[in-house]
Parts: sequence; structure tokens; C-alpha cells
Amino acid sequence: MTPRSPSLLFVCLGNICRSPLAEGALRHAAQRHGLDLTLDPAGTGDWHVGQPPDPRAIAAARRNGVDISGLRARQVTADDFTRFDHLIALDRQNLADLRRLAPAGATARLSLLNDHVPGREGQGVADPYTGTAADFDQTWAEVTAAAAGLVRVLS
Ligand code: 4NP
Repeated sequence: MTPRSPSLLFVCLGNICRSPLAEGALRHAAQRHGLDLTLDPAGTGDWHVGQPPDPRAIAAARRNGVDISGLRARQVTADDFTRFDHLIALDRQNLADLRRLAPAGATARLSLLNDHVPGREGQGVADPYTGTAADFDQTWAEVTAAAAGLVRVLS
């Protein structure tokens, strides 16, 4: 039997900036490395459910050759805690919210994205939502570094 591919859910607040960028960066890195992963982004908040990523996030990914425009925001559900192997929070508040939301019987491992970047363990990825295009480029750089770390441990 072929083992099921590892599944990772990236979780931020609005699901329109950081988690779609993280999903796009890891999807891109996994493709380059021939790594089969199941990936999805979600938010702890519900303000943007059904919406595509922020246009500035779409543009930042596109500048790096990655298309995230097909994603649609959704909120984390109780099922996610058993459907996914890993729930990866973008910042410490997202991680605290996931710990609070975890139902009895949750099996997913919870971590911070930067826990997968040597030297950045415990640090959050800043929210670029109120920032500029340069802040979105900075977010892209951070999630790309984490994607490289995740590819290493998942390969
Ligand atoms: P994200 O950024 O969590 O990286 O998607 C945010 C986007 C929208 C809001 C907050 C954060 N909001 O409050 O609408």
C-alpha cells in the first residue's frame, strides 16, 4: 500500500495573506523536490470566508512564479484536527487559538511555522495586512525559508 502523503494545514488569522503565501511557497518547493504533500490554508477568523487571497499576496506570489489566486478563504474546523497530520500556525496568537479550539481526540501536531526554521523557533510571521507591497515580499521571504525547512524534514 502506498502511504498517504503528509498533510499540512497552514493557519493564520484572516486566511487571505500569510497562510495562502505559506501554502504557495511549500507547494512550489515540494514540486521542485518531487515531494507529494496535501496542503491547505485556513484562518481562525471568518471575516474573509469565500474570498480569494489579498491582491497584494497574489501579486507577491506571482512575482516569485507562484499562482495562489485560486485559493478561497475558509475557517478552521474541528475536523481539521484529525484530517491533517500537521496544523502549522503563522504566529503565536494563531497557535494559542488552535490549542484552544482543539477538540478531544485531536491527532494533528501543532507547531509554529518558524519552528521549522533553524534559529527562528518560537517566532511568529508578522501580519502584512496593514502594510505595503514590501511587507508582502518580506512575508514571502519568511514563508519560503520555512518551506525549505519543511521540505528537508518531510523528504
Ligand atoms: P492574515 O492577515 O491573517 O495573514 O490573512 C489578515 C487579514 C485580514 C485580517 C486580519 C489579518 N482582518 O482582520 O480582516
